[in-house]
Amino acid sequence: MTEAVDWLEWHRAYDDPESRLSARLRVVQRRIAEALHAYPDPLRVVSMCAGQGRDLIGALADHERRGDVTALLVELDERNIAIARDAVRAAALDGVRVVRADAALSDSYEGGVPAEVVLACGVFGNISDAEVLHTVARIPMLCAARATVIWTRYRDPERDFIPTICEQFERAGFEQVSLDTSEELRFGVGVHRLVTEPPKFVRGERFFTFLR
Ligand SMILES: C[S@@+](CC[C@H](N)C(=O)[O-])C[C@H]1O[C@@H](n2cnc3c(N)ncnc32)[C@H](O)[C@@H]1O
Repeated sequence: MTEAVDWLEWHRAYDDPESRLSARLRVVQRRIAEALHAYPDPLRVVSMCAGQGRDLIGALADHERRGDVTALLVELDERNIAIARDAVRAAALDGVRVVRADAALSDSYEGGVPAEVVLACGVFGNISDAEVLHTVARIPMLCAARATVIWTRYRDPERDFIPTICEQFERAGFEQVSLDTSEELRFGVGVHRLVTEPPKFVRGERFFTFLR
């Protein structure tokens, strides 16, 4: 049986600026900052499995659009939620809300969608390949017109799943904006923009079952 991951501990690698996770975070924050420039008001962001919210909170802290953003961070671990809420308060980001809810369920996003920016960081490496493909196929229901989805996935040198994820985004009505990959750091950060009409949001949809 796989041992359960301690999701507070998982975030400790961010404390080391030289870690792979910190390198990934810098790329994600840069891509978020760029995406925020692409939209007029309103500007809604949702984050699936937001953890401590380091990506969005870090990107927003000094961003010129910070006051225009309403965000919903969906996370299950109370300890990470507390840290994320402290960071939101410290950065005085009044439009950012952190909720304890199951990010796998569409209902958890009610009130925060349709979103111009959807974050799926640290998700696609923790669910089955079939669930990754299912989540990508259903993610448009969280999206506003021309929404940007920013996602991550580790790079497996034996079997790189990132190209398959990109193909699935294209099948789901997205075009690729960028793909940052690093053989050395073994991660990929993808940015895809929805170029088809967003479908209706539906309650009761299950995107994935997080492996814990
Ligand atoms: C790999 S971490 C990623 C955190 C953050 N997105 C990042 O990239 O820094 C995964 C996070 O998902 C949370 N999580 C796991 N299953 C979840 C679920 N079903 N709903 C919401 N959060 C979940 C964990 O508590 C953990 O904080």
